[in-house]
Amino acid sequence: MKKKFYKIMYILFGKYWFNSNFPVLGAISKKFRSYWFKKINKVNGKVNIERKANFGTNIVMGNNSGIGINSYVQDNVIIGSNVMIGPDVLIYTINHNYEKENVLIIKQGVNKKKVKIGDNVWIGTRVIILPGVTIGNNVVIGAGSVVTKDIPDNALAVGNPCIVKKKIGSDTNEITNCNN
Ligand SMILES: CC(C)(COP(=O)(O)OP(=O)(O)OC[C@H]1O[C@@H](n2cnc3c(N)ncnc32)[C@H](O)[C@@H]1OP(=O)(O)O)[C@@H](O)C(=O)NCCC(=O)NCCS
Repeated sequence: MKKKFYKIMYILFGKYWFNSNFPVLGAISKKFRSYWFKKINKVNGKVNIERKANFGTNIVMGNNSGIGINSYVQDNVIIGSNVMIGPDVLIYTINHNYEKENVLIIKQGVNKKKVKIGDNVWIGTRVIILPGVTIGNNVVIGAGSVVTKDIPDNALAVGNPCIVKKKIGSDTNEITNCNN
């Protein structure tokens, strides 16, 4: 109930305000958005929730991480520190059951599986992450990828389905920060 109240406050006082990098008003908007996000979810440190970001509950987010403009993070997601989630990213943790032959899919219920994202990760724009996926530390996911399976540490992964294209160093400076 309390979380629903905070969600309404977020929608009224932050969600549609200024992009975080907009002069002066952006910083205020950013403060409000992260305040409401922290009331609803568990945050260890500072975070940047961007304009029009939408999110559920039971999200754990590490220091210096963010959710990009117009992105959506469903319930039950664990996000590490220094994670950049680009614009229009979708992270889902619910599948509809569909196996029973003579029952409408709408009546078969749902299956919830956590998504985990490690530390020092950059998720490009328009990526879709599906239920149950774990993404390791030091990972880049290319724009438009659909992540259907786990991605190991130190990898650049792209495509639909998203697969490892090359190994990248574990030197954390290799990923440039775009969390404002
Ligand atoms: C993933 C990315 C960072 C890779 O850039 P890069 O290191 O310069 O790598 P390259 O362009 O050399 O690509 C390496 C290979 O992956 C492929 N590739 C790169 N990005 C891809 C993508 N998004 N989807 C599918 N394939 C991709 C390239 O075609 C290339 O394939 P090849 O080796 O068969 O020729 C970049 O392509 C990308 O997707 N950036 C996201 C931009 C974005 O979302 N910005 C928002 C700011 S928060």
